[in-house]
Amino acid sequence: MGAEVGVAGVAVPPEAKRRRVLAAKPTAEGAGGKRPRRARRPQGALQRLFQACRAVFRGPGTVPAPAEVDLLRVILDRMRPEDVGLSSDMAFFRTRDVAQRNPTITHTTIYKSEKFSMVILFLPQNAVIPLHNHPGMTVFSKLLLGSMHIKSYDWADPDAAGSGASSPDKDRLRLAELVVDDDFTAPCDTSVLYPTAGGNMHRFRSIAPCAILDILGPPYSIEEDRDCTYYTDVPYSEHTMTGTEIVRNEQGDRRLAWLKEIEMPGDLKMCSVRYGGPQVSER
Ligand SMILES: [Fe+2]
Repeated sequence: MGAEVGVAGVAVPPEAKRRRVLAAKPTAEGAGGKRPRRARRPQGALQRLFQACRAVFRGPGTVPAPAEVDLLRVILDRMRPEDVGLSSDMAFFRTRDVAQRNPTITHTTIYKSEKFSMVILFLPQNAVIPLHNHPGMTVFSKLLLGSMHIKSYDWADPDAAGSGASSPDKDRLRLAELVVDDDFTAPCDTSVLYPTAGGNMHRFRSIAPCAILDILGPPYSIEEDRDCTYYTDVPYSEHTMTGTEIVRNEQGDRRLAWLKEIEMPGDLKMCSVRYGGPQVSER
């Protein structure tokens, strides 16, 4: 994710209001001449989540064990908007029927290390995060507020470099299997995707303004060859190729589609804001 940028689009409140919107900054101790209290270690759901993430994510090339996934899932399932300083009363979540096309998506980072990151995505109504992948990552997504449609895929054959590739690389189609194609409304259970399962490539489209708490282990890293790739999906029936009959015979009950790599869509507008909610402590 990029560096913090200024106000852009309907999703980002003016600087002066950000602290209130994203925020919940604790009142300053010692105001009014009182003696400052000793800083206390943050407690609560977010800190418990952070400590669990530190125990579970061991860095690039690793995937949490099933029991560890369950641990994080239980904590996340119980997370509420207030745990990260959000409320359904905020103007952002009450703004509906916005005429603007491709409204700006905002993200804020609670914590980031080489092993995992904790971020919140804010999608205004009708915003779309295009189909993209999470190479080598395990990702937990908890919809805290709002409603969205998720469509996700895994490669039909994760070991193949390009199932059915029959054209030049830039136009290469690769066979994928639909994993999720459904609406989700908060409060709902946490979604988990893995490097080769669970819907590693997904698209979010907000139905009502959303806040999504995402835990990525490990985070994206261009240096470590975990950059984000975007795709467009082509209905399975629209592509003919050598060997189609073979694939069709193997299709069975699987819902297949072709994915084609694309550049990051030019109309995707994302910006970053400072996180002002409850903090996590590394001590
Ligand atoms: Fe994603």
